[in-house]
Formats: sequence, C-alpha cells, structure tokens
Amino acid sequence: MPVHFPLKLVGSRMLAPSVRHLEFTRDDGQPLDFIPGQFIQVHFAAPDGQPARRSYSLATMHDHALGPGEAVEIAVSYVPGGAATNLFTALDQGQQIEASGPYGRFCLSPKDENRRYLLIGTGTGVTPYRAMLPQIAQLLRERDLEVVLLFGARTGDELIYGDDFADFAAANPRFRFMPCFSRELPVTSGPDARRGYVQDALADLAPDPERDIAYLCGNPNMVDTNFELLKAAGLPIPHIRREKYVSNK
Ligand SMILES: Cc1cc2nc3c(=O)[nH]c(=O)nc-3n(C[C@H](O)[C@H](O)[C@H](O)COP(=O)(O)OP(=O)(O)OC[C@H]3O[C@@H](n4cnc5c(N)ncnc54)[C@H](O)[C@@H]3O)c2cc1C
Ligand SMILES: NC(=O)c1ccc[n+]([C@@H]2O[C@H](COP(=O)([O-])OP(=O)(O)OC[C@H]3O[C@@H](n4cnc5c(N)ncnc54)[C@H](OP(=O)(O)O)[C@@H]3O)[C@@H](O)[C@H]2O)c1
Repeated sequence: MPVHFPLKLVGSRMLAPSVRHLEFTRDDGQPLDFIPGQFIQVHFAAPDGQPARRSYSLATMHDHALGPGEAVEIAVSYVPGGAATNLFTALDQGQQIEASGPYGRFCLSPKDENRRYLLIGTGTGVTPYRAMLPQIAQLLRERDLEVVLLFGARTGDELIYGDDFADFAAANPRFRFMPCFSRELPVTSGPDARRGYVQDALADLAPDPERDIAYLCGNPNMVDTNFELLKAAGLPIPHIRREKYVSNK
C-alpha cells in the first residue's frame, strides 16, 4: 500500500480558461522526491461516497530532491461534471488534499544515446515536459542532442506554460518549440507555429529510427495516432514512450 500524505494548497492561478495551476506543499514535513515525468495520485470521496483517485503529472521544474516546503505543482484541466474537477474547482488556499506517489516511468532515460527527442503532448499533456526542462538543459550541455516539443492546443490562450517553453527555446538553440493550434492560429505566433494537430506537423520533422526517441502524452486518441505514425516510420516500440490521460475509476 503506497504511503499517503497531505498536500496543502499554497497558491494557484488560471493558465487557460479551463486549466488551473495549483501549488502545494507536503504538509507532513517530508520531501517529495520525483523524477521529471512522474505523476501523483489524488485520493478523495466521489459524490456517491466511494473512494476515488485521479492522476496528475508533476509540473514542477525539477532537478533532484524537493526539500520540505518546496512547491508540488500540477495543472488540472477541468472536465465538465468531473468528480476531481469539482474537488479542484472548490479548493481554497490553505486547504488540504490527500495524495500518494510519485509514480510512473514516463521519464528521460540516462541510458538513451539518441540524437533527437520528439516530445509530443496535447493540453495538460505537456506538463511532464515542463518538469523535464532542467534535465533537458543538462543533457543539451552534455551531449550532441536536439529536442523538439510539439504542443497541441486549440488556441493561443490554451497554450499552457507557453512562455516557459518559448523562453527555454530562446535560451537553448537546440530546443525547438512547435505549438500546433487545432482551431485558430494566434496572430502573433512565431515561424515554428502550425495550424492543425500535432501529427500534421510530424512529417516536417521526418521521424528517423536511427536518430529519434519519441514521448507522447495527453489525449488518448492523439497518443494512439502518433504511436502508429511513428511505428510506421520505423521507430522501435521501446523508443515510443506513452502516457495516456485517462481517469482511474
Ligand atoms: C498518468 C496520468 C496523468 C494524468 N495527468 C493529468 C494532468 O497532469 N492534468 C490533468 O488535467 N489530467 C491528468 N490526467 C487525467 C486526470 O487523472 C483525470 O482523468 C481528469 O482530471 C478528469 O477527472 P475528473 O474526475 O474531473 O473527471 P471524471 O469524473 O473522471 O470524468 C467525467 C467525464 O468526463 C470524461 N473525461 C474524463 N477526462 C476527460 C478528458 N481529458 N477529455 C474528455 N473527456 C474526459 C469521462 O469519461 C467522464 O465521462 C492524468 C491521467 C493519467 C492516467
Ligand atoms: N474549448 C473547449 O472545448 C475546451 C477547452 C478546455 C477543456 N475542454 C474539455 O476539457 C477536457 C480536457 O481538455 P484538454 O484541452 O486538456 O485536452 P484535449 O481535449 O485532449 O485537447 C487538447 C488538444 O488536443 C487536440 N486533439 C483532440 N483530439 C486529438 C487527436 N485525436 N489527435 C491530435 N490532437 C487532438 C484538441 O483539438 P480539438 O479540440 O480542436 O479537436 C486540442 O487542440 C475535455 O473534456 C475537453 O472537452 C474543452
């Protein structure tokens, strides 16, 4: 049975019209160490009184151990009528929730020797990539590597953490940020922005089994479509790493 711990809300802001960024501290004084790409689970009572849990990727830009008192950050996309959505919508500063973790293997591997990472995400599915930024900066310093982030959002105001990724790309020339807008291309979008789904931009990047390892995170249909395209391009299955955002029931 995994250890459960209390998280206290210490700050929040809206990242998009229906996405809330929440910052917590562990309220038991213990550190939460995690590997970027991992997630926590939140435990609560559903409206029918039954125990429920939902998973959330850690968004904290993180290098190593989180000391006690350091923020545990997540981004929650509101699903109309959703049980956890109702919990997070009503959560006020200073209130506690119950959590466990960290969990998961959707992480960069120190054994990888590829020359390019294709990081692909939709909606809050880019959260793990934000957590990975310090680790990516380190890898870019250490070895001959390119990183491309394909981020699918409907419109400019749903491009969560867009400034973090754009700033990182400006500071790291071998990191390319390609936002893909499914409904409307913002007027001020840069040369790497695209109109369409993330998979529509994939051909431009010419996925190459000799060079690439891909990560796919977020909308389950997006993950399946891109998995098939990358497999058809010759990438071996262990080089196509996936995290589907579905509810635990
Ligand atoms: C490993 C992992 C990591 C995750 N990380 C995040 C994260 O960082 N941020 C985040 O916002 N979510 C994340 N999720 C999804 C999250 O756990 C919940 O599924 C989501 O918040 C909806 O929960 P809910 O209780 O509000 O809705 P529910 O009560 O579970 O669902 C209500 C209704 O909406 C439908 N529904 C649920 N989710 C979606 C969706 N995304 N799109 C369309 N319909 C949906 C359900 O089928 C149901 O009919 C992650 C899931 C996994 C498995
Ligand atoms: N404006 C809205 O409708 C809106 C806004 C926020 C959240 N929500 C709701 O909140 C929940 C989660 O939303 P979210 O924004 O986090 O994630 P999401 O619904 O997965 O959408 C994120 C992005 O992925 C795109 N997408 C959808 N299907 C795809 C596929 N098969 N392949 C590639 N890209 C695909 C979406 O485009 P398209 O949507 O254009 O197809 C959008 O640009 C959903 O229930 C959603 O309906 C709705």
